[in-house]
Amino acid sequence: MDLLDILKRRRSVRAYTGQEVDKKMLETILQAGMLSPSSRAIRPWELIAVTQKEMLQELAGCRVGAARTLETAGAAVVVIADAQKSDVWVEDSAAVMTQMHLMADHLGLGSCWIQGRLRQASNGKTTEDYVQKLLDFPDNYRLEGILALGVIKTHPEPYRLSQLPTEKIHWERF
Ligand SMILES: Cc1cc2nc3c(=O)[nH]c(=O)nc-3n(C[C@H](O)[C@H](O)[C@H](O)COP(=O)(O)O)c2cc1C
Repeated sequence: MDLLDILKRRRSVRAYTGQEVDKKMLETILQAGMLSPSSRAIRPWELIAVTQKEMLQELAGCRVGAARTLETAGAAVVVIADAQKSDVWVEDSAAVMTQMHLMADHLGLGSCWIQGRLRQASNGKTTEDYVQKLLDFPDNYRLEGILALGVIKTHPEPYRLSQLPTEKIHWERF
């Protein structure tokens, strides 16, 4: 499949069967994340792979509603970064999230990006505090987001190029 076809197929998948995610696939997804570009090659991020069902259930509480997809996920990758190491840790971490999300779809797995920054958990704490307490990462790390992963129950339709918002493209000047 050429890269454009892969990009057209990628969708946010929120319906999973609840089955485990194959360890080899999870490792390939982590490799895709680590292959992402990073400003000044600092790579300020750390990736926490979560596979235990009880922990995935707990993680689902990290947002009010928006993380319910984790309840049936087979795994998740939590992306955190040391903001002291790079002033563009958000961009670096988003690149990691994007590459993992794409690789998951390419491998035939479903995945969904769950926003971590600037959001609230179901218990009234920030999403970051909630996830930090659960996963025990050091105070100097900020939460970027969580990639939910799972065996696909239903996959939304791939995009067609005719659907693209081409009015957003500006040549030479706005
Ligand atoms: C930065 C970012 C944050 C997102 N946060 C969430 C989220 O918290 N929960 C969720 O279900 N989807 C989340 N999504 C997925 C978007 O809702 C999704 O990409 C969008 O609706 C377009 O659908 P598509 O990914 O199938 O093209 C997020 C996506 C991005 C890029």
